[in-house]
Amino acid sequence: MKSYYEMIFKRRSIRKFNANLSISEDLMKTIKDKIKTLIPLDSSIRTAFKIVKREETTAKFGEYCILFYSENHPLKLLNAGYMLEQMDLFFTSLSMGACWYGIARTKEKKLDGLDYVIMIAFGKVSSTELRSDISQFNRKKPMEIWQGEFNQKIIDAAILAPSACNSQPWRVQSNPKLITIHRKKNVKTIMTPRIRSYFNMIDMGIFLCFIDILLDYYHIVYTREISTEFNTDTDFVKIAEYNIK
Ligand SMILES: Cc1cc2nc3c(=O)[nH]c(=O)nc-3n(C[C@H](O)[C@H](O)[C@H](O)COP(=O)(O)O)c2cc1C
Repeated sequence: MKSYYEMIFKRRSIRKFNANLSISEDLMKTIKDKIKTLIPLDSSIRTAFKIVKREETTAKFGEYCILFYSENHPLKLLNAGYMLEQMDLFFTSLSMGACWYGIARTKEKKLDGLDYVIMIAFGKVSSTELRSDISQFNRKKPMEIWQGEFNQKIIDAAILAPSACNSQPWRVQSNPKLITIHRKKNVKTIMTPRIRSYFNMIDMGIFLCFIDILLDYYHIVYTREISTEFNTDTDFVKIAEYNIK
């Protein structure tokens, strides 16, 4: 996972593509080969990916869309965020444009018996509009997200994760031996509660992907335990716990 580290600081959602530049066959093969190497959050969950032309969806930008399908499973949305964020960061490494696209729709709601979950639109851009400084991120302050002692570089990088409507639903408590990650249900956003719950669980998977990249990068050895029950009445839903060795 640590190979994605530098992309954390460069990525951004790209919504402007150059219609005159198209993805070559070779590049498409590179992208498809990459999909085969994605690390799942839970390898027991059956998933599938399909790349379609943007016109086959309701997406308004991008040359292609990568559609993610999954079997029904308690960790379906977390796993979607975890796996597709690796693609998002991979597109950044290729200086391509990409954007998570929750509101776009596809007619293909099923693939090999698996349910459609979400897509990322991607394509070529005329110039790389990657970020070069942390100040270019519009994010909550670390202290609003993360309480407790931990490597400050990890805290500062983890909070750069992308989320639906930039709602940043993650809340973290830590001490040097334990990181506990919660989803705050009641985040300020224009999303309705049902949509918010769906997308924010994908966001939490994205955040776990960032945490794993960062822990790996800093050679921190850990065991990770993901919750399986998310229907609680409390505002903070426990998502995962990391025990640091
Ligand atoms: C699960 C998810 C769904 C998203 N859906 C959309 C979308 O439908 N349309 C869009 O323009 N951006 C969408 N985004 C992009 C977010 O708005 C964006 O990641 C966030 O504002 C942070 O900005 P950044 O990605 O440039 O860092 C989505 C992001 C995530 C993680």
